[in-house]
Amino acid sequence: MTYLLALDQGTSSSRSIVFDRDGHVVAMAQREFRQIYPQPGWVEHDPRGLWTTQLETAREALAQAGLKASDIRAVGITNQRETTLLWNRRTGAPVYNAIVWQDRRAEAACAELRERGLSDTVLQKTGLRIDAYFSGTKLQWMLDHVPGARAQAERGELAFGTVDSWLIWQLTGGARHVTDISNASRTMLFNVHSQRWDDELLALLDIPPSLMPETLPSSAHFGDIQAEWLGSPLAIGGVAGDQQSALFGQACFSAGMAKNTYGTGCFMLMHTGERFQTSQNGLITTAAAQPPGPQQYALEGSVFIGGAVVQWLRDGLRAIESSSEVQALAESVPDAGGVVLVPAFTGLGAPYWQADARGSINGLTRGTTMAHIARAALESIAFQSAALLDAMSRDAIAAGGVPVSELRVDGGACVNDLLMQFQADLLGIPVVRPAVIETTALGAAYLAGLHSGLYAGLDELSRQWRAERTFHPTLSRERAAEKMAQWEHAVRMTTAA
Ligand code: G3P
Repeated sequence: MTYLLALDQGTSSSRSIVFDRDGHVVAMAQREFRQIYPQPGWVEHDPRGLWTTQLETAREALAQAGLKASDIRAVGITNQRETTLLWNRRTGAPVYNAIVWQDRRAEAACAELRERGLSDTVLQKTGLRIDAYFSGTKLQWMLDHVPGARAQAERGELAFGTVDSWLIWQLTGGARHVTDISNASRTMLFNVHSQRWDDELLALLDIPPSLMPETLPSSAHFGDIQAEWLGSPLAIGGVAGDQQSALFGQACFSAGMAKNTYGTGCFMLMHTGERFQTSQNGLITTAAAQPPGPQQYALEGSVFIGGAVVQWLRDGLRAIESSSEVQALAESVPDAGGVVLVPAFTGLGAPYWQADARGSINGLTRGTTMAHIARAALESIAFQSAALLDAMSRDAIAAGGVPVSELRVDGGACVNDLLMQFQADLLGIPVVRPAVIETTALGAAYLAGLHSGLYAGLDELSRQWRAERTFHPTLSRERAAEKMAQWEHAVRMTTAA
């Protein structure tokens, strides 16, 4: 049994991937599910839809690989983080839809916490800034707004979980109510130092402790999948939030190693070793996925509109028919012709944190064509990521470390060579694309493989990581600095508007 099955429950689709021992993809299945937008700023998922699409893809991936569950050594789970679920412990019925990480309904509750002067308490205990992004105030909203929820919670009848907990509950037939520390660290309720739910934070948000799942290291026995789901029982040996899982799948195991995932948004994480370090530059601190042992941390920054800017070129501007055409259009001109596009469609994330900013296109001339705009759109992904890496390097240096010396990349848009080259040019360090870009699922598979004894340790996984292509910087540092200055100028104009 040298195969591993990874379940990757993401924001827009559920995917399952079978890996062989060397980390190669053997089979993959994917299903999209419904996005529910009940009001502006609200985003929900049907919990049952998450579970059924996930189960279907697991079955499909096994069938495609020509394998039975009994051929699988262990299962790893990775998931969209922060998304909040609440269900009945006896019946398993959700009391409300899942409130998705993108949902902003808890903003007023967060503003109140900030006004009460609690930002520093939350930061020191959790590494997070008080924001509606995280699970805590989403859960509080459910308890306060779903009729009967608080009374049931107080009677101990309900269970809270992020998506991993929900899937494990289903897979184990309700036998296990559990999560891992990387997911727990995204709730704003978890003390990352003591590795326990924090009584003071639970009390602040009025959340009964009985709702909370047991927390385990990311590589551990999370329960056994019941035989009825995949044909025979299977151990769940690894769980991690998707961004921490990608950091693990990229074999970024020690301080200073960083990865960037280019998806709808971009998520950049830099490992900081055993050191809990808060950012002076607009980043958050998060628990890294890890086997049992001392807690390991990462600094994280997110860009809200990454690959989504290409969707906007396609669906909004109708500049291209399919996303894959963007590289050719952008390459049809030698540069962006002075155009700078700031895709602040939903505000700007780290390191700017400007919720009210809106997008802009600067530098238009009579000669500007759609190709220049497409090129500027691609460049905006790299500019935002470069601002994050700069913030990380400044934090690293302030903590006595060294700047990031190489960036490992993954996610859908990392296949775009033009974007990766521009990224390396801006950063002035090599940008390295691995042979296996399914690093999110791979991280969960590795965590499960480690627990099951398939791998001896992290050294073996590091040796297994291989680059497919390295993009070396070709631009002078002066020219790169000029370009970054143009970008920062455009951002300032956006946020001043
Ligand atoms: O924090 C949100 C993140 O985990 C979502 O990732 O890949 O599902 O968009 P993704």
